[in-house]
Amino acid sequence: MISSESTMGVRLGRTDYADQFEPVLQEFLGRYPKDGMYVPIHDLLGSGGKRIRPAMVLAAAEASGGQIADAMPAALAVELFHNFTLLHDDIMDDAPMRRGRPTAYATWGRDATILSGDALHAMACEALLDAPAEALEPLLRRFHRTAIEVCEGQQLDMEFESRPDAGAGAVTIERYTEMIRLKTAVLLAASLSMGAMSAAASPEAINQLYSFGLHLGLAFQLQDDFLDAFGDPVRTGKQVGGDILSDKKTYLRIHVFAADPSLDSRKWEPSDLEEKIAFYLDAYTLHGSAHAIVGGISNEVAQASDALLEISDDLPGPDHALSFLTNLAENIATRTS
Ligand code: IPE
Ligand code: IPE
Ligand code: MG
Ligand code: MG
Ligand code: MG
Repeated sequence: MISSESTMGVRLGRTDYADQFEPVLQEFLGRYPKDGMYVPIHDLLGSGGKRIRPAMVLAAAEASGGQIADAMPAALAVELFHNFTLLHDDIMDDAPMRRGRPTAYATWGRDATILSGDALHAMACEALLDAPAEALEPLLRRFHRTAIEVCEGQQLDMEFESRPDAGAGAVTIERYTEMIRLKTAVLLAASLSMGAMSAAASPEAINQLYSFGLHLGLAFQLQDDFLDAFGDPVRTGKQVGGDILSDKKTYLRIHVFAADPSLDSRKWEPSDLEEKIAFYLDAYTLHGSAHAIVGGISNEVAQASDALLEISDDLPGPDHALSFLTNLAENIATRTS
């Protein structure tokens, strides 16, 4: 069920599923040493996070008529994997802040963060090995395929930084959508399908939950792009305008250059950071890009709701699991953290 924070519809708060997941995560982490390369791992996992992916695993398992306990290995795997991607992502994005604190990269440096990330990825694989034996092979296949796709998405994200904003070689909305499908949406989709696999759901239910999750994941990354520019850093825990400074080809950036191809020919100096952020934020408002991304999010939410409607009659689980899934799209679209 949704916690009081998110029933208000304003933000994606902690859920009962996330609360049930937390002690299991703590027990799992307690099996590993506390020193050396494990320090950044314990620090990041201990610094919060919405735990949306494990909550999705558990909700999908219950909605499919399964037991929460059977889905915990998959829930651990997706959350540990997600945190691994954050460790490496903050190096790639040169990010100073994560969850309201200096990033692991800023605190322990690049080499230590690469190593801790590698270990955390392997810990995610270890966690998944405790899944129900009959579900293990499909779970491992989906999990590893997803990991490869996330790397493909991150590769595109990095490549796009040096692409021109207008003219030949500019990134289209279609390519952008493919990039965010890979770097973000597939993990949310896999979370739902891995929950259903853990509950021995039918192949159709697994596939339909995956499709629903892809739309949720696209909405999730669009909202992430919106919050990077217009979010409250106290709520997001991240630097405002990080995407602008890295020349990320976000939905906002692609939209604004479609509206005005000659918007920015300036060579920004390292001392102009604040000015560059202010320039782009103004442009996003002036050219309606902020408005357009909100429309893009609503569109994905509508498609997610349609996808869920098609399967909800076939999901045998309790009402609270179904209402968690039903509220997910709206909560993702209105989240502030
Ligand atoms: C951040 O994910 C990375 C993206 C895929 C956008 P979350 O917004 O789920 O991060 P936490 O785990 O809640 O901190
Ligand atoms: C993150 O995208 C995607 C992955 C971590 C795989 P972002 O780079 O936009 O995520 P944040 O904004 O740093 O959390
Ligand atoms: Mg980043
Ligand atoms: Mg990134
Ligand atoms: Mg971001």
